[in-house]
Amino acid sequence: MSAKTGSFTFGDKTIELPVKTGTIGPSVVDIGKLYAQAGMFTFDPGYTSTASCESEITYIDGDKGVLLYRGYPIEQIAERGDFLETCYLLLYGELPSAAQKKDFDHRITRHTMVHEQLASFLHGLRRDSHPMAVLVASVGALSAFYHDSTDISDRNQRMTASFRLIGKMPTLAAMAYKYSIGQPFVYPKNDLDYSSNFLRMCYAVPCEEFRINPVFARALDRIFILHADHEQNASTSTVRLAGSSGANPFACIAAGVACLWGPAHGGANEAALKMLMEIGTVENIPKFIARAKDKNDPFRLMGFGHRVYKNYDPRAKIMQRTCHEVLNELGDKDNPLLEVAIGLEKIALSDEYFIEKKLYPNVDFYSGITLRAMGFPVSMFTALFAVARTAGWIAQWKEMIEDPGQKIGRPRQLYTGPARRDYVPIERRA
Ligand code: ACO
Repeated sequence: MSAKTGSFTFGDKTIELPVKTGTIGPSVVDIGKLYAQAGMFTFDPGYTSTASCESEITYIDGDKGVLLYRGYPIEQIAERGDFLETCYLLLYGELPSAAQKKDFDHRITRHTMVHEQLASFLHGLRRDSHPMAVLVASVGALSAFYHDSTDISDRNQRMTASFRLIGKMPTLAAMAYKYSIGQPFVYPKNDLDYSSNFLRMCYAVPCEEFRINPVFARALDRIFILHADHEQNASTSTVRLAGSSGANPFACIAAGVACLWGPAHGGANEAALKMLMEIGTVENIPKFIARAKDKNDPFRLMGFGHRVYKNYDPRAKIMQRTCHEVLNELGDKDNPLLEVAIGLEKIALSDEYFIEKKLYPNVDFYSGITLRAMGFPVSMFTALFAVARTAGWIAQWKEMIEDPGQKIGRPRQLYTGPARRDYVPIERRA
């Protein structure tokens, strides 16, 4: 990172502020001393122009539709890598050697089981609990079970907590699912790869042999890779903010899960699928396109548009291919939802409104159809996203903790409430 300065004039005052430049992407103005020098704060409530941290993990160029994990394009990782390799890359910064990969896979799989009392903990929740409610509760509860990995000042404990979270998240998500449908929990099987093990924990029952479909396992692994990290999105920023106070990693990741649950973030694939079902047939597409363009109609094309991508989301292309692979495997090439999705995408991409506003399909556009075809209920979609994003959350949390310049996150505000006034006794109030 190189540094320059820039001068900024506020009224009659000119001040010098450092300008920092990263490897690629926009430079930043370091406003850390702005208040001391100019007596003013900056105002950017949705953080649209604010870099909240320095990071070496993930890079997005929204205009060009580029996503890099530690410099590697997402297309190459999704095509040639696997999810645990992606976790290693995000955590350590480099692709593992064969020996490092073997060791890492072993470490993660040694942490797939959860304390048996967590099952009793889950039994205290209502059967109809949303899987995300169960995940928020159970991930937070990990800090009550694994005291030997909550000391954030100890590097070994930080690594153990990281392995535990990556290893246990699928087990907890599968338990949430099994609990909601009244089936017994299925213990992890450590000779299976990460995604096959997750499919088995979700779909196996004790009374039958379970056969893993390798096409589904590969598709799920790719979905996990695509969702593993996305720089400083809302849930990742939540994890960093929670962690900045020194909270333990399990509590921080539980905060990330809670943030991800919102429909504007992790819940969008569910909304996209519901919209495709509502459109129903290709003939109805023009009606919905017209609604999306109507300023007086709140309807939006779900799975379209992105705060950062003003080009085709690179993940959406891979997701579309994965969707075809899963439907082909099921012999469901003519799936009506896929027909609607393809038709909608084609019309929207050639429509002036969408071109001008740079609205392209995002990763959620095809992921709902794919997950549904693989048998996951809509309520599990965000839980699957949480399993994948745990890799990014933990890598970002670790990077923050290990940053010597790290401080507690404490934004300021533009106060618009009443100015100072005196207390009025109740009998004198109007
Ligand atoms: N359909 C129709 N019009 C849209 C859409 C859409 N999906 N998205 C944005 N627009 C229009 C807006 O009406 C606005 O029009 P205007 O300039 O005439 O007022 C313009 O495009 C800009 O929209 P903003 O909401 O200001 O853009 P922003 O970058 O803040 O929003 C967002 C991005 C929230 C993702 C938005 O595109 C959207 O609501 N999309 C649908 C929901 C969705 O798919 N979310 C998933 C995001 S991916 C993820 O989080 C994993």
